[in-house]
Amino acid sequence: MWDALKTYYAIHSKTSEYTYEWNSPVFLFSNENISQYLDPAMMRGARVLSVCGSGDHVFESLLAGAAAVDTFDINYLQKYVLELKTKMIRGLSYENFMDFFYDYSSPFNQKILGPVMPELTRGARVFARYAFTKRVRPSLSIFGIRPSYLQDKVKYAMLKNILPKEFKFSQIDVRQLPQILDRRYRVILLSNIMRISTLAGFDAYYRQVLKPLAQAAVTDQGQIYFNYLFSESIQDQGNVIKKNYIDPLLKLDPQHTIEFRECTPSNTPFAGFPLLGGDVAVMMKVNQKTY
Ligand SMILES: C[S@@+](CC[C@H](N)C(=O)[O-])C[C@H]1O[C@@H](n2cnc3c(N)ncnc32)[C@H](O)[C@@H]1O
Repeated sequence: MWDALKTYYAIHSKTSEYTYEWNSPVFLFSNENISQYLDPAMMRGARVLSVCGSGDHVFESLLAGAAAVDTFDINYLQKYVLELKTKMIRGLSYENFMDFFYDYSSPFNQKILGPVMPELTRGARVFARYAFTKRVRPSLSIFGIRPSYLQDKVKYAMLKNILPKEFKFSQIDVRQLPQILDRRYRVILLSNIMRISTLAGFDAYYRQVLKPLAQAAVTDQGQIYFNYLFSESIQDQGNVIKKNYIDPLLKLDPQHTIEFRECTPSNTPFAGFPLLGGDVAVMMKVNQKTY
């Protein structure tokens, strides 16, 4: 009951699409090329911690072989995007799922949700009823690259079989994560929180987020994916990477190394100019043995 009231309040409270708070507008789909940048050898059998967002990092992790995925997000409402999409994939056909999100003549048709409604928690029902007209990010939430399970029906079918009924979710700022985690993960996915964070630049993010997380919650040789650079900025990307990641490498503790994983561009229609190269996911590898 409390969850349903809190959800109703969150959806109807004042906010802006430029904020990242407990009640901000939600992301429905990722604009990152996640399936390409994850390292399958590391994902197989891994326990993963992921920012929740649209749920796409969670779904792609499972498709890449992760054994289990726990989630967190500063935005309380993102947990309902994950719940709703999980239950839709488990209970609806690929065609119905696509119609719900991508039929622009009749978007978010509630009738399609009929079969999954009885499966939803009360909060998720409130979310499904009101959020699509009131609390969805208008821009990058639907367009962007389509995740692998939407590009390929076989993957959608695979996901249907491997998706658990529910996921562990903590509503928390990434900076507080080390205080609540009581286990280690082989892979942590932070999407591009760093870019929208109020922490100024890589140095502060390394000291306040990456290093404490690595110490508290990553297994030996584990990985933290902590930024995603879109190809729109490729002209400048060489400089950005050098300034933000290569130069500060010298200041990193010796057990941490940075790796870049290239993927094809996310190709958002919002770029407005020809794409010039690939996207890059930036990852920190943790060698616990040298601690
Ligand atoms: C980083 S955003 C960006 C979207 C991204 N490119 C994608 O693939 O969807 C993804 C999620 O991070 C969450 N987030 C932003 N700042 C956060 C913070 N300081 N702590 C925890 N989560 C945060 C947002 O609420 C959002 O759901």
